[in-house]
Amino acid sequence: MQTTSIHGMWSSRLAFILAATGSAVGLGNIWRFPYVTSDNGGGAFVLIYLACILLVGLPIMWTEIVIGRRGRMSPINSIRELADDAGASRKWMGLGIIGVLAGFLILSFYSVVAGWTLHYGFLYLKELFGGTPITDPEATFTGLLASPGELTFWHGLFMLMTMGVVAFGVEKGLERAVSILMPMLFVLLLVLLGYGMNTGYFTDAASFLFRPDWSQVSGGMIVTAMGQAFFTLSLGMCAIMTYGAYLPSGVNIPKVGITVAATDTVVALIAGLAIFPIVISFGLDPEGGGAGLIFTSLPLAFAEMPFGIIYGFLFFTLLSIAAWTSGISLMEPATAYIVESTNLSRKAAALCVAAVAWIMGLASVFSFNLWAEVSIGGRDVMSAIEYVANDIMLPVGGLLTALFGGWILSSRITREELDKKMPTWAFNAWLWITRIVTPALILVVLAGLFGII
Ligand code: TRP
Repeated sequence: MQTTSIHGMWSSRLAFILAATGSAVGLGNIWRFPYVTSDNGGGAFVLIYLACILLVGLPIMWTEIVIGRRGRMSPINSIRELADDAGASRKWMGLGIIGVLAGFLILSFYSVVAGWTLHYGFLYLKELFGGTPITDPEATFTGLLASPGELTFWHGLFMLMTMGVVAFGVEKGLERAVSILMPMLFVLLLVLLGYGMNTGYFTDAASFLFRPDWSQVSGGMIVTAMGQAFFTLSLGMCAIMTYGAYLPSGVNIPKVGITVAATDTVVALIAGLAIFPIVISFGLDPEGGGAGLIFTSLPLAFAEMPFGIIYGFLFFTLLSIAAWTSGISLMEPATAYIVESTNLSRKAAALCVAAVAWIMGLASVFSFNLWAEVSIGGRDVMSAIEYVANDIMLPVGGLLTALFGGWILSSRITREELDKKMPTWAFNAWLWITRIVTPALILVVLAGLFGII
């Protein structure tokens, strides 16, 4: 069995943690978590989301890293190899294929939203040099969405930035970006949290976020909570599996998995605790904020804070960078697969993936203007793409990942990869959670989704 990957390797355990955290922490934490929480009524949603992280997310995160490191290739090929070794059907490659497809869908709308953040960073930069201030955030946001040209430009810029890093290999650019800029984003979130605490509405926000109103629970809400758990941890589409393929042997997988999942969760909760006091203090409804939530609420705070323009600039710029390190992990699996399976260079492969994802992203761009009237099952085009990819494809991918890791890989292999020195009871706990508990929970949620129960 190969012990290094042809695509390169992370230089250390820390490099992997930074890269995987860079993948996990992104728009999912700061844009999506607050808005889906807002749309799903708060506390009960948050608690179900946390349960999904623990019982579904973490076991799958471990399993993805195990499969990736054992296979040392892009997901589709790693799975083929491991299935062959185990004497199992090559149909398991379907897991890798679903992953690559979900990756394209997610990257397509992710890049559009990352484009919004780039645009906002630029607006504050202009304001610093005397440009017009954002006085009516609602109008600014609606104005941006109404302009396909503007949206397409920023979406394209983000896609180019992502392609740039992937084309040059993930080691250099990525490790450096993540190790300096992510801590800066975290500090800025803490500043916003401090501001939120001083608004006088901190306890209202905390109770919105953590006091469950169980009457709000519905099948649809549980599906969204699980979809959000997969999305925020970058699971279910073999992205973490791909990063696992570049993880040096000997690094303890359970520990790095916990570090990444815990960091991601803390960032989401802090983002929530920073944003909701602002929302409430400006008299906005914490419920039903929709995808524009941070773009229509935070500028109100930046307009009032001392040095608010600088904070606004830094906040949206750093958020763009967090999105960038996530976008890279959305592009890497398909790119690595093309490099392995064709004689295209990494640069050409990254260009192909970026071009296809950029074109697909136009559907999300148009969903706010030219196609504003189009509705797919009651959702606008972008929400429909988000729904199919996050709420259906990621859980299906996660289900197959858990089944493959739990039942197809031999426990000799998984134990060796996880931690040779692990006590037997701990290994067995992982094994049976991955074999039974996690798949059963996903199945129940999916069955609810399709109206079977
Ligand atoms: N987790 C990232 C975020 O929260 C998004 C992301 C990156 C992702 N890679 C992924 C989501 C793979 C699902 C699968 O912003």
